[in-house]
Amino acid sequence: MLAASVIAHRGASAVAPENTLPALAAAADAGARWVEIDAQVVADGTAVVFHDERLERCSNGRGQLITAEWPALRHLDAGSWFAPAFARTPIPRLEDALDLCRERDLGLNLELKVSPGAQLDRLAEGTLAAVSRRPLAPGQLLLSSFEPQLLARCRQAKPALPRGLICRRVPQELATLAARLELSTLHPDHRRLTARAIAAAEAVGLELYAWTVNDATRARRWLQAGVAGVITDQPAALIAAGLER
Ligand code: G3P
Ligand code: MG
Repeated sequence: MLAASVIAHRGASAVAPENTLPALAAAADAGARWVEIDAQVVADGTAVVFHDERLERCSNGRGQLITAEWPALRHLDAGSWFAPAFARTPIPRLEDALDLCRERDLGLNLELKVSPGAQLDRLAEGTLAAVSRRPLAPGQLLLSSFEPQLLARCRQAKPALPRGLICRRVPQELATLAARLELSTLHPDHRRLTARAIAAAEAVGLELYAWTVNDATRARRWLQAGVAGVITDQPAALIAAGLER
C-alpha cells in the first residue's frame, strides 16, 4: 500500500523538532519516502501539525492547543525546545506540510489526532478541507487515526482516500472494523505486537505499519515477520541498515 517500509515518525524527529517543516525536510534528506505527522484543528478552523494537547512541551506557548487561534499560534517558537539551532521554527499549518510533501515527493501518513475536548466533525472537516486545498497525488496520502468514528467520517466525506487504524493492541473485532471502515492498513504499537496479531491482520487483508521502532535490529525482525513497514524517529539509521524496500 505505502511505497515505503520506513516511515519517519513526526518527521525525522530524532534530529529535528517533531512535526515541523525542518523535521519533514530532514526525513526527505535522509532518503525517507514517507513521513507521519499529527494534525489537529484549532479554534478558528485552521488545521495545524502538532502532537500534544497542550503547547508547553513543543513550543514556547502555554495552554491548550485547540482552543487557541491560528493568528496567535503562528508566532510561536516550536524549535528552541529541541535545540537552539531550530529557534523560531514555527508550528506548521497542515497546508504548509502538504506543500512540502508535494515539493519533496514524500508520501504522507496523516494522523488525525483527537485531543480531549476535540469535536470529531470539526477535526475531520478542517483536516479534509486542507487536503482538498493542497491535494497530493493518488497514492501519496494515507489518513490514520486511533478513533474509528473519525475514520468513519473520513470514509463518508472522502471515500477514495485510504485509511489506517492506529491501535495499541490489535482489536478483537478487527474483521468487523476493517470491513465497516474499509481500512487499508493497521498501525499497532510494536511493543504489544505478536505473531498471532500479524496473522489476524493478514487474514483480513490489512498491511501492518508498526510504531515506534527506532532500533534497526528490531525493525528488521518485524519486517521479516510480515510487517509491511515501521514508523520510526530514526529514518536515517534504518535506511542505512538497508531496511527501505
Ligand atoms: O502513527 C502512529 C503514532 O504516531 C501514534 O502515536 O502518539 O506518536 O501519535 P503518536
Ligand atoms: Mg502520530
